[in-house]
Amino acid sequence: EKEGYEHFTLKEIHEQPKGVKETFTRRLDKNSNIVLDGITITAEDLKNINKIYIVACGTAYHAGLVGRRAFETLAKIPVECDVASEFRYRDPFIDEHTLFIAVSQSGETLDTLQSLREAKRKGARVLSIVNVVGSSVSRESDDIFYTWAGPEIGVASTKAFTTQLTAFYLIALHFAKLSGSMNDERIKEVVDELKMMPEMIQSILDQSEKIQKLAARQFNNEKVFFMGRGLDADLALEGSLKLKEISYINSFSIAAGELKHGTIALIEDNTFVVALATQDKLYEKMVSNIKEVKARGAHVFAIAKAGKTVIEKSADEVFYIPETLDLLTPILAVIPLQMLAYYISSIRGNDVDKPRNLAKSVTVE
Ligand code: M6R
Repeated sequence: EKEGYEHFTLKEIHEQPKGVKETFTRRLDKNSNIVLDGITITAEDLKNINKIYIVACGTAYHAGLVGRRAFETLAKIPVECDVASEFRYRDPFIDEHTLFIAVSQSGETLDTLQSLREAKRKGARVLSIVNVVGSSVSRESDDIFYTWAGPEIGVASTKAFTTQLTAFYLIALHFAKLSGSMNDERIKEVVDELKMMPEMIQSILDQSEKIQKLAARQFNNEKVFFMGRGLDADLALEGSLKLKEISYINSFSIAAGELKHGTIALIEDNTFVVALATQDKLYEKMVSNIKEVKARGAHVFAIAKAGKTVIEKSADEVFYIPETLDLLTPILAVIPLQMLAYYISSIRGNDVDKPRNLAKSVTVE
């Protein structure tokens, strides 16, 4: 079943071009208009929604953070995003003008399911982004978006994440169309770019040797930092989670602007720092942050967009992702992060597909 791959996790990392493609092609008609069969929210319904809550756990929560920015930028709707185990107990303000979005690969995560029930009790409309057809979360939702990632076996979530991002982009564009916050031409531009993602992901996967070599040099670290700004700060959380859960290395993530407010105290000679610098308007700021950690002895591996080479002067190593819209970079920049976690875990001889103490689906509190 592993089709020649050493682990399911690696196989699933490589299935992402297909998963992302499946997820959007089923939603585009022949003129590239977005058609979301499982979502029945009308323009009138949307007028009544004044707030979106996105709630999930772990990697699905990180997808939600990216989703929040997609809704805010494209559809101009205020969004809050929370982890389900916090949301449930914080008495959030929810009423019939709230749209609650649950994100879950398995559709069985208990905290996510209970949050959904709580939101429903308070009158919210519930939309879910799930991978497993017929799962509990999908059964209890008003609207459903199925990610067509296929079964995910590895405990570390990989293809579920990139298909969840695809889901968010499509739903945000659909809402932008319904509310009129974007014109058709602008929507088409983003859709056209989204259609390039499978090919771009593949071009990154084709460079896996670079990441393999990096892993061979950095597998023995005691701690690793991930930093970024804007969407890259969200993605830093995912890079860090992926690494710690399968490699057991103590990894942290930080919004790079927060470095000076404490965390920089932990940077020593040879501390390995992964710096995400894919956002055009934050690029210079990230270059400064890289200089700050370099001055304290860090070894910096940066991820930037093709063509943005100024960073080479400050980072030790740079991995380039293809040029695309800032909003879409997480779907590409996560690939080297997943590969880095995978190769480090595998070099360390860990059980990559079934890391210690973890279960694929968390159905207890
Ligand atoms: O099935 P779900 O998407 O609801 O699962 C949520 C988390 O448990 C899951 O993403 C977890 O964080 C993964 N092990 C991360 O790789």
